[in-house]
Amino acid sequence: TKLKAGFDDGFLWGGAISCSQADGGWKQGGKGTSTQDLRYLDPSWDHEQVELKHHGNPFSREEFEAALADEGTEFYPNRRGIDFYHRYKDDIELFGEMSLKLFRTSICWSRIFPNGDDLEPNREGIEYYRSMFSECHRHGIKVFATILHYDIPVNLVLKYGGWKSRETIEFFVRYAETLFSELGDLVDFWLPFNEFNAGRFAPWDGVCLIPGDEECTSQAVFQCLHHQFVANARVVELCHRMLPGAPIGGMIARFCTYPATCKPEDNMQALQDDQYSNWFYTDIMARGEYPSYMNRYFDRFDIDIKMEDGDEELLAANTVDFLAFSYYFSQVSTTEQGWEKTAGNLVMANKNPYLPTSEWGWQMDPVGLRVTLNQMYDRYGLPLYIAENGLGTSDVLNEDGTVHDDYRIDYLRSHIECLKEAVIDGVDVRGYMVWGFIDVVSCGPLTMDKRYGLIYVDYDNGGKGTGERYRKDSFAWYKKCIESNGEDL
Ligand code: BG6
Repeated sequence: TKLKAGFDDGFLWGGAISCSQADGGWKQGGKGTSTQDLRYLDPSWDHEQVELKHHGNPFSREEFEAALADEGTEFYPNRRGIDFYHRYKDDIELFGEMSLKLFRTSICWSRIFPNGDDLEPNREGIEYYRSMFSECHRHGIKVFATILHYDIPVNLVLKYGGWKSRETIEFFVRYAETLFSELGDLVDFWLPFNEFNAGRFAPWDGVCLIPGDEECTSQAVFQCLHHQFVANARVVELCHRMLPGAPIGGMIARFCTYPATCKPEDNMQALQDDQYSNWFYTDIMARGEYPSYMNRYFDRFDIDIKMEDGDEELLAANTVDFLAFSYYFSQVSTTEQGWEKTAGNLVMANKNPYLPTSEWGWQMDPVGLRVTLNQMYDRYGLPLYIAENGLGTSDVLNEDGTVHDDYRIDYLRSHIECLKEAVIDGVDVRGYMVWGFIDVVSCGPLTMDKRYGLIYVDYDNGGKGTGERYRKDSFAWYKKCIESNGEDL
């Protein structure tokens, strides 16, 4: 029988973070200011105010300029992160102790090219990553590098309007070329863009637009996305040429979508929501062309994407080697008005009465992970990586340094069980990365108290604390999972 019993040897058990949420050291080592350094959080805000403020992203020119002029760190959690910049060696030693096989982080563009349009890279930035990735290999950990995770040098926004300009494509290609030549021997997997579809739901994070600046945000977002698709294809081409055999992939935040009822209209709605929120992005990256179903969408919202000669050929010729996705929740689609809502990653979701929600309102659905894996593999037949999955919740650090996070273990166990089912279903999935497997600043609310880690980091929302690291109960559990290759859950 060809039926698999479980995970292949060599399945990559991993953990993921991003530079802007972890590094800190925002003015050190020659780093320039990035768009994520401008995100604002008043530590005295309560939960509701954090939600209302829409993740502290600048929504108007005034907010943008005020953040730019402010040199402090108190109200800017990403300027502090978890001080990974100074502590990465000790942290990677802990990852090694966990038997981690794969470490995903992003490279900070403004550490390599502080202004984005510099002609020469900042050597100190390159040496930082050479040291970090060498340290991973020393502990037997492979490296999965995201080239851009929501943070571009702010100078590119000031001078060129960020991704609105085609010039940014050239700067991004120069940046990627530098990474391929300087770090190519130390990186095992390349990912040009984190969550390609984020630009549509969080324009500042995804495409670096100040929404208040735009007459029609949708038009601007889709034009920026087009420039990112072109940049992606250029970088895929470059990687294949400069580093033959090095896998380079595409990623989305996967919104697993079910019809709310078996009413045919709800089913049609689910199909369209899936196209517009998910498939559009992976279809371009994996199939190499704009899908025809988007014409109707563009027409309806009066979106007119300006392409240049050669763009379509470029997309067609440079498709990705693998697909990756973040998976946190599922949602339902319906044509009915007034359906109850709940929070989800990047979006407000329609509530599913069959699913429990996390403390932050995200609907927990391990089966949706199996559904997603099957759907994506059926459609593209490409190797898959789960680039992010995990539970964001508040944890209690006890006086004896323990954190009893059995709820996180339950979450991870149920998802890994469904992942294993997908493997037996025949899906070619090669890696699983726990998001924020060391606590980092959360992306949406920008707080420390929404924790995903298997390692606790002693900082609060205002950056106060010792910064010490503590193993949560989930640390030992994941180590056991990794060492038994997913058998001992
Ligand atoms: C993903 C992002 O969308 O979700 C991460 O790639 C983020 O950067 C993660 O941290 C979890 O979201 P949050 O808002 O709970 O941190």
